[in-house]
Amino acid sequence: MTRKTVLVTVGTRPEAIKMAPVIRALQADPDLDCRVLATAQHRQMLDQVLAVFGITPDIDLDIMQPGQTLSGLTGRLLIRLEEVLAAERPAAILAQGDTTTVLATALAAFYDRIPLGHVEAGLRTGDITNPFPEEMNRVVASHLTRWHFAPTQLAADRLLAEGYAPDSVQVTGNTVIDALHHVAAMNPDTGLDLDPGKRLLLVTLHRRENFGAPLARICDALERLMADNPDLQMVLPVHHNPNVRGVVNARFGGADRVILCEPLDYTAFVGAMSRATLIMSDSGGVQEEAPALGKPVLVLRETTERPEAVTAGVTRLVGTQTEPIRAAAQELLDDPAAYAAMARRESPYGDGKAAGRIVQTLRRDLL
Ligand code: UD1
Ligand code: UDP
Repeated sequence: MTRKTVLVTVGTRPEAIKMAPVIRALQADPDLDCRVLATAQHRQMLDQVLAVFGITPDIDLDIMQPGQTLSGLTGRLLIRLEEVLAAERPAAILAQGDTTTVLATALAAFYDRIPLGHVEAGLRTGDITNPFPEEMNRVVASHLTRWHFAPTQLAADRLLAEGYAPDSVQVTGNTVIDALHHVAAMNPDTGLDLDPGKRLLLVTLHRRENFGAPLARICDALERLMADNPDLQMVLPVHHNPNVRGVVNARFGGADRVILCEPLDYTAFVGAMSRATLIMSDSGGVQEEAPALGKPVLVLRETTERPEAVTAGVTRLVGTQTEPIRAAAQELLDDPAAYAAMARRESPYGDGKAAGRIVQTLRRDLL
């Protein structure tokens, strides 16, 4: 029997983290041939993840340009993907999440009539402009998907409510928990020069809809927290997006008890999450990982497509206004009962076995 080729696309840091367990599981399968396509929508941040997981792409489009626009990136991706699909003719394509890489992959797969598996399907805020442009990307990707791999029952229910066929929707858990288990088992170090006598506030920021005034208000809240809590040290690995980098470096460069650093590689970042007292972030992935590590997250956004952790009480949506953000963080720093109520190890996003379920479904339908 000839092996069936499954092409896996990864473009950005979170896609690579969440696809790494799937790639590993496909590579271990004797009947499937896994081909990894890096669009390199992110360059340095993608390479960092691929190195941690020992993944060498079979194809690398090297598409990233500094300050790339959404239309420019989408157009360049579609043209290059068409060439790749013509040469590779895979039996199936897998894409993860809601980035521009996913939108372009889904469209290119549809145009070439190649079935698409969407990993982390069914996330929704219900507001097409928030997060921007990710909500649109995932809604469109769902329309073009053959296998919807939903991370939670809630995500699966949303897809069913939108009318997708029940036999195309499967609850797998989120593959990020597979990746997290793999790395956390190594008990990783942060590689940072932390003060063991101080509490650690870990912060990440990068969402497009927060650029400008919201990001400035978030920085105001962080500044106040650092001024009001001398026992606090803040680590902020700065995303490469120039809209984030300029603002954050100008605000916190040289500030007392603040470590601004390059994006941490995944092992070091898991080490930092494990060591943190409190995490404040607008990241999607961090909302899924931190609860599995028992760390409270204040979500610096107006909406979230990950309500499971909010409902469980282990993350909290605090918006982007300065005072509510500051007050929520201060409460957790001052009130042990409020802290303990959030710092519960819960994993609403999976059991670490999602990748195996995805590969089993592909085997069932492709072989
Ligand atoms: C992208 C995704 C977002 C995801 C995030 C993960 C889209 C529209 N956005 O946002 O959903 O949450 O990745 O981090 O797909 N850059 C570098 N090196 C890197 C990465 C980025 O220099 O390794 C800079 C470049 O100037 C690039 C810019 O950041 O043009 C923006 O990158 P892009 O992928 O377009 O958007 P992100 O904000 O990273
Ligand atoms: N992450 C990392 N290093 C960092 C910051 C984050 O490895 O310095 C990881 C984090 O653990 C999570 C992922 O990157 O798995 C989230 O990526 P990001 O916040 O860029 O994107 P999103 O999840 O919001 O799409």
